[in-house]
Amino acid sequence: MTSAALPPSSVTVRVPAKVNLELLVGAPREDGFHPLVTVYQAVGLCDDVTASRSPGWTLGVTVPDWIDPDAVPVTGDNIVDRAARLLAEHHGAELHAAVSVTKSIPVAGGMAGGSADAAAALVALDRLWDLDTSDDDLLRLAAELGSVVPFALVGGTALGTGRGELVEPVRDPATWWWVVVPSDAGLSTPAVYRRFDELTPDAPAEPEEARALLLALATRDPVILAGALHNDLEPAALDLRPDLADLLELGEQSGALRGLVSGSGPTCLFLAEDADAAREVAGRLSEEHDVVLVTNGPVAGAHVVTYA
Ligand code: C5P
Repeated sequence: MTSAALPPSSVTVRVPAKVNLELLVGAPREDGFHPLVTVYQAVGLCDDVTASRSPGWTLGVTVPDWIDPDAVPVTGDNIVDRAARLLAEHHGAELHAAVSVTKSIPVAGGMAGGSADAAAALVALDRLWDLDTSDDDLLRLAAELGSVVPFALVGGTALGTGRGELVEPVRDPATWWWVVVPSDAGLSTPAVYRRFDELTPDAPAEPEEARALLLALATRDPVILAGALHNDLEPAALDLRPDLADLLELGEQSGALRGLVSGSGPTCLFLAEDADAAREVAGRLSEEHDVVLVTNGPVAGAHVVTYA
């Protein structure tokens, strides 16, 4: 005899940050978005989003001591509020839950922390409200919320096209070690794209393919991957934040195989040969930077860790 399981009273979903191993950007489309060819990788800096039963709707955020709580918008049009509304509207369900986000992904840093939280909220509320949303519908709702939200659902390593919202998993058999240096002051993603437009008046209508990067992943050799990493937004981010060039140089002098700006920045990433090398680079960067994190990828996308 089978019996239907009761819906949970609380669900926690863990969701990773992303890095762009390759980010190729074309000229703006008619809708203002830029066509992208990008290779995303999910790395082990994760936020946890917990959705619990509640008669009303509340959203709270907890940050570690190295994240400025004022940098996390919890009121107004937060992307987690929007995710919840969108899911509820899609099913004609009522918006009632207490959601809390425990952050470990650097904020406003080019690692898609807000997008990750939105993806996690979709999954957590789908389970809490027992909605059984199909994967296709979740991906479609995610794309409505933001270009990077679908990748946070998929995780691993994936090719992103369109405006970044079309994701297709790719083979990435190795574990890659990263040193991550967030920045106190964020950079606005639209401002970085605008500066890209000014600096790149001849951007192609469609970016090239990411074939060399995909081949580099398959070699499992960090020296080869280091040579293939590329971010078209980096010159724009460095133009807006020239100090980041010094940080990239310092990381490479400290033993990193390669430093690059993460997405639209200002977080900077350093690829290291292995875990020991990453810790060594991090140790040297810590002498000059308050927050230096070591992580690896690829890791899983948004997934349930507690269902109670
Ligand atoms: O899609 P998302 O909300 O994450 O995008 C944030 C902003 O980044 C957009 O409003 C747009 O200015 C810029 N963007 C873009 N082209 C993309 C993705 C983002 O111009 N492919």
